[in-house]
Amino acid sequence: MKILLTGKTGQVGYELERSLQGLGEIIAVDRTQMDLSNLDQIRNVIRTVKPDLIVNPAAYTAVDKAESEPELAMLINGIAPGVIAEEAKKIGAGIIHYSTDYVFDGGKRGAQGEFVPYTEEDVPNPINVYGKTKLAGEQAIIASGCPHLILRTSWVYSTYGKNFLLTMLRLGNERDELKIVDDQWGSPTWSGWIADTTAQLIKEKLVSSDAAGDRAERFAAINGIYNFVNSGYVTWCGFARGIFANAALDGRLLKKSAPIVYSISTLDYPVPAERPLNSELSTQKLQMILNVPVSSWSESLQECLARESAFNK
Ligand SMILES: NC(=O)c1ccc[n+]([C@@H]2O[C@H](COP(=O)([O-])OP(=O)(O)OC[C@H]3O[C@@H](n4cnc5c(N)ncnc54)[C@H](OP(=O)(O)O)[C@@H]3O)[C@@H](O)[C@H]2O)c1
Repeated sequence: MKILLTGKTGQVGYELERSLQGLGEIIAVDRTQMDLSNLDQIRNVIRTVKPDLIVNPAAYTAVDKAESEPELAMLINGIAPGVIAEEAKKIGAGIIHYSTDYVFDGGKRGAQGEFVPYTEEDVPNPINVYGKTKLAGEQAIIASGCPHLILRTSWVYSTYGKNFLLTMLRLGNERDELKIVDDQWGSPTWSGWIADTTAQLIKEKLVSSDAAGDRAERFAAINGIYNFVNSGYVTWCGFARGIFANAALDGRLLKKSAPIVYSISTLDYPVPAERPLNSELSTQKLQMILNVPVSSWSESLQECLARESAFNK
């Protein structure tokens, strides 16, 4: 199987380039080789490479900046995935694409007014530009008729790049007290888990000789949208406390005692893009196609932090 991987410099793309090894010929490209704001370049790369599968973690991910660059964000997140999918369909390839919890408005509640997790059947209603562009990308892929897996992930962190984990470790080494938002709920998700689980799905469902039918039939059996997050729910504040509990124990990533983490509300931390308060995604549908339990956010955090060598790159 020939796999074209976009965005190899991103948190998820970097891990994917490693996790996909062994599944076939991996052609990993960065922004200079396949710029998602250049639709002709996208078409040329796909026509030249002729992959069997395109894995697309590349995206415009600057959630706040997207509010002032809506056209560029829409081109990269909303239009380009549709072009990729159209090209894939022409050559009989499938696409694995990543989307976001931010396609929802965060208002889903149960009978007692409590937050309940979103399922894949819930109707999206994004409240910021980034979410709107990512939803447009999902819809363009579906409209193309290309075999697809759309994997909605959330609160992605990694040992490199720009993310909440690295921000907390940096601030934790600088300050004695931190104030962190405590009324947005979601699932922090490690890019290493995303990549390993994607590779596992490809191996078991699309490549394995145990899977029935040809590749198109195998894809058809799992085609669709999946919530793709570590299990369990926590606030940003709870996540920060989880990080410091682990990092402090580790004693290497945090050079001083852990800071005291105080909770604040979303209203106390104004940012350009509105965030959903409820970002909880149910993993029930994903669990049905995986042979192993979905790792919890705290298990994945421990595994990520244990990779100390990765922090020293
Ligand atoms: N990060 C999160 O918290 C989060 C949450 C929910 C969903 N997601 C989704 O998960 C996927 C992976 O996100 P991530 O966290 O790995 O993002 P990331 O670390 O910000 O990486 C984004 C990647 O996209 C590339 N890229 C940006 N603009 C591009 C363009 N015009 N052409 C080609 N490549 C371009 C970046 O290249 P450069 O290195 O050159 O900039 C980078 O490789 C995305 O679909 C994202 O929407 C992320």
